[in-house]
Amino acid sequence: MQESATNRLHTALAVLSLWLVATSPWVSMLRRIPSGAGFFAYAHVALGWLALPIGIVYAVSLLSGGRWRRYAPGKAAGITGVIEGLLLVAIVVTGVTGAMWFLLQGSGDAVAWRGWHIRAARALIGVGIAHVLAVASHLLDLVRD
Ligand code: HEM
Ligand code: HEM
Repeated sequence: MQESATNRLHTALAVLSLWLVATSPWVSMLRRIPSGAGFFAYAHVALGWLALPIGIVYAVSLLSGGRWRRYAPGKAAGITGVIEGLLLVAIVVTGVTGAMWFLLQGSGDAVAWRGWHIRAARALIGVGIAHVLAVASHLLDLVRD
């Protein structure tokens, strides 16, 4: 895929995940979408479903053709690349676990998937903060050089 196209996917994912994380305190759905759920709950489901395919396409396009080595620990990847690789995994796992909750709504399994989704989302937040710090310090280095 062309670099400009993947950059647009990155922008979409960054905006979507900031929205999904920032509004999550107003999302409360234990076993199913509650009747009379609020705007942020419906927005979370709709935009979460949107983020899932975008995350998969973005991850596959960056990791295919041997380029995964830039994001896996080893000679070709620095710490920034490894953080980016973890973030790609985290966004896909967060989307998949959210989608599993949706598909299994009403069952006890949905409650379990919600738990995995929340753990994945917390990992995404932690790695995401590391990502923003890593790329910010990288940009500072570029300015200094
Ligand atoms: C789930 C959300 C995100 C994912 C999965 C993600 C993933 C990535 C990946 C894989 C790269 C490396 C791209 C490459 O090697 O070509 C990258 C670069 C970068 N990311 Fe993110 N990112 C996310 C969110 C963010 C956010 C919220 C910001 C800023 C507030 C950000 C800022 C940057 C910058 C400045 C770069 C380096 C410039 C570039 O290659 O475009 N990212 N990101
Ligand atoms: C990749 C996209 C997604 C991101 C970044 C994301 C992010 C989050 C975050 C940050 C939370 C709050 C976790 C906490 O309470 O600590 C959450 C909760 C939740 N999300 Fe997502 N989510 C995504 C996709 C989805 C999808 C596709 C669905 C279902 C269709 C979904 C359903 C839920 C549910 C049911 C909860 C629990 C709400 C509650 O009862 O407190 N999410 N999500």
